[in-house]
Amino acid sequence: MEGHRIILNDFLVHIKGENITSILDAGSGRTSLSVIANSFSGTPIDAVVYPGDIRKINSVKEIAEHNENISVIEKDICGDTVIKAYDLIVAHLLLGEAAKFGNSFEDLLEKVITMKYKYLIIIDYLEDPAVNENDIMKMCEKYDLTVVRKSLVTNQEPQVWENFTGVHNFGYLIKRL
Ligand SMILES: C[S@@+](CC[C@H](N)C(=O)[O-])C[C@H]1O[C@@H](n2cnc3c(N)ncnc32)[C@H](O)[C@@H]1O
Repeated sequence: MEGHRIILNDFLVHIKGENITSILDAGSGRTSLSVIANSFSGTPIDAVVYPGDIRKINSVKEIAEHNENISVIEKDICGDTVIKAYDLIVAHLLLGEAAKFGNSFEDLLEKVITMKYKYLIIIDYLEDPAVNENDIMKMCEKYDLTVVRKSLVTNQEPQVWENFTGVHNFGYLIKRL
C-alpha cells in the first residue's frame, strides 16, 4: 500500500472515537474520498476540487453517485473564503498542486491552516519540490495549533511523478484547541 494511504488510514483510526459530523476533502480525488467515506460512512463529506479539473471531477462524481452523503464542489480554495466549519479537513496530496492552478504553496497552506476545523490532516510527498515541509510546522506555530501526530512512511515502491520520485510520504494530524 502507498505510504500516503497508510498515513491517512492511521490518522483516521486515531480520531475515530471523536465526534466527527462534517468533513471537507480539500483537493479531492478517488483515493482520499474513498478512504474517508469508508472510515466515516454516514458522515456528510464536501469533496472540493479546483474548478474545471476534469481529471478529478469525474472520478469524484462517480463515487458521489453511489453515496448520498457526498457533495462535490468546484472551487478555488485560495480564491474563495471557506466560511463553513468542519470537524475534519483532509488535505491529501493537495499542497503540491498549488502552482498547477496559479497559487503559491505558502498561500494555499495558509488558507488551509486558517480554515475552521477541529482536526486537520495534511499528507504529501517529502521529495516533492513544490512542497516545503518545514513551512507546515512554522505555520502551526504561528497559528498556535497542536500537532497531535506526525508520520513518515517509506514507499516500498517509490512513486514516479513528472518531476520527482516519491520515496517518502509525510503526514501531520493537527488539532485546534
Ligand atoms: C493530486 S490531487 C489530490 C488527490 C486526492 N486527494 C486523492 O487522494 O485522490 C490534487 C487535488 O487538489 C485540487 N486542488 C489543487 N489546488 C486547488 C485549489 N487551489 N483549490 C481547490 N482544489 C485544488 C485538485 O483539483 C485535485 O483535486
